[in-house]
Amino acid sequence: MFNHARIVSRLATSCLALLGALACAGTPAPQPEQTTTHPFLIEQGAADFSDNCASCHGLDGRGGGPAAVALIVPPADLTRIAARREGTFPRLDIAYVIDGRFELTAHGSREMPVWGRRFLVGLPEDEFGDAMVRGRIEALVEYLESIQVSPGEVSPGEVSP
Ligand code: HEC
Repeated sequence: MFNHARIVSRLATSCLALLGALACAGTPAPQPEQTTTHPFLIEQGAADFSDNCASCHGLDGRGGGPAAVALIVPPADLTRIAARREGTFPRLDIAYVIDGRFELTAHGSREMPVWGRRFLVGLPEDEFGDAMVRGRIEALVEYLESIQVSPGEVSPGEVSP
């Protein structure tokens, strides 16, 4: 004899689990505070980086791009973001720095373009456009995290960490 009550209760439990998973799928995408790496995002971020960032930060991210000489503030060495912060790579902060639209500090002129605004050009100015901009910035953050050197490592030509 089958124990119907038990089967029904098992079914109910697995349905609840499924519902839970579906509900999770509906929650907003994780913000760049997560620590897993995504090879696809890194690849995308790397391509975007060489198109848009290497002119100042250099192809290797160390700050020696051809446009760097024209700047008053030297472009940061982006392989040492974590090294400058005792080994921590603050994904969300870095996403905000790149975006630039939410900068609250009044520390004079920002030499880096406001990428959040630039990336929005040609996109709808609604939540879809915004999601695409955030995705693009997230890929850049992912790429930058992948090129961090260990805190003890000194980049060639670096004056102070
Ligand atoms: C026109 C030159 C220029 C370009 C192009 C540029 N940056 Fe920058 N970036 C700078 C300068 C200069 C700084 C130093 C800080 C400042 O200006 O406030 C900087 C700082 C940063 C920082 C902060 C590093 C830290 O440790 O706080 C990040 C992250 C960054 N850039 C990422 C990018 C990314 C990603 C791109 C491409 C999408 C990019 N930059 C393109 C000039 C540039």
